[in-house]
Amino acid sequence: MLLGFTLLLAACNSSPCMEGFLLNKEGTCVPWKKGGSTDSQLDTQGDGPDDSGTEDSDTDDSVVPGDDDLVLLTGGRLLRRISLDLRGLLPTLAELDQVEADPAALETLRDAWLEDPRFEQRLVEIFAEQWHTQVDEFLVTYREYQALASSPGSEYPFERAVGEEPLRLMAHLAAGDRPFSEILTADFTLANELLVSIWDLTFSEEGSEEGEGWQEARYGDGRPAAGVLATNGLWWRYHTTVSNYNRGRVAALVRLLVCEDYLSRPVSLDGASIAEGEAVEDALRANPYCMGCHASIDPIASALFGFYSLNEYSIFEIDRYHAERETLGPLLLDTEPEWFGTPVSDLAGLGQAIADDPRFPTCVVKRMSQAL
Ligand code: HEC
Repeated sequence: MLLGFTLLLAACNSSPCMEGFLLNKEGTCVPWKKGGSTDSQLDTQGDGPDDSGTEDSDTDDSVVPGDDDLVLLTGGRLLRRISLDLRGLLPTLAELDQVEADPAALETLRDAWLEDPRFEQRLVEIFAEQWHTQVDEFLVTYREYQALASSPGSEYPFERAVGEEPLRLMAHLAAGDRPFSEILTADFTLANELLVSIWDLTFSEEGSEEGEGWQEARYGDGRPAAGVLATNGLWWRYHTTVSNYNRGRVAALVRLLVCEDYLSRPVSLDGASIAEGEAVEDALRANPYCMGCHASIDPIASALFGFYSLNEYSIFEIDRYHAERETLGPLLLDTEPEWFGTPVSDLAGLGQAIADDPRFPTCVVKRMSQAL
């Protein structure tokens, strides 16, 4: 699958919105309605004679915005929007002049910005807004690590690095124009010097130990190749308790990766009371009110037991993978690992199954269009 971001930009030459969507005055992409109005409604608060905004050959003439407030950005205004989205910066005067003199320069600039290192940083920020892994407190602090304990100045760099790990991996793959599904299958992560100094991680490329910032790195604890699903940063943020059995983690994964929210499912509690003597864990597998969610939650949770910890506050428990616990999932949850009915062998299989799920690319595009 292609990166949703590139898809969005490619889909519509003259608008930053997805095909079928148009930018309104508030800067939000809203769907076009089919209707009988004329093209003039499409246009524009153009910046010059070249800003007709109708060059997009994919645009069906009969498709017009249903809302008079909609404005198709072109020229300098579109350049400004794209620059903020891709680089987090306003365009320079020289760049604005360039586009004013030749509207086609907009595409050249856009393509160059996709190669700009600031694009990767910008993706980290975009993913951060949705994945919420950047927090100022995890269950363990920097003081647990000898390498950091004596320097209080490590506190924020430590938290920042842990929270950024999964975001950096995704941004690195996306900015490198790799298939975005690799966020679920990569056999490496991204790490900086701080993470390498505390966790069982080695930079993939020799000679990149010092001062290079974020680099590809590999864990030495034999964890499966599952991209972000095999990062400490993700599971430190979405931790689980001994009795929760990874279920909260599943709710987060399903929301972030296939845009389904268990908490928004309708729940009827009328018949949900658990019969006397019926154990909660039995109800989960027999009571229809519970199964509506747990029939899919529990088999996914079952695949996550290599990251299951017996003490969430111990670095020896939470900063390494426990391959020997993988079999605990089927034992404790009484269900083999599955992704919505598809059996998976292990965490790597789970990553692949999510990557193969048609809801995944749709969700990536949806999340990207929300972010821009
Ligand atoms: C609407 C979806 C939904 C329904 C219906 C539902 N659950 Fe859950 N359940 C969840 C989610 C999501 C979690 C994980 C929540 C979290 O940890 O953030 C969860 C977690 C749990 C946990 C782990 C709690 C813990 O943290 O220790 C138990 C036990 C549980 N559910 C039992 C049940 C039972 C029994 C029923 C039926 C009476 C039921 N659930 C119905 C969605 C649902």
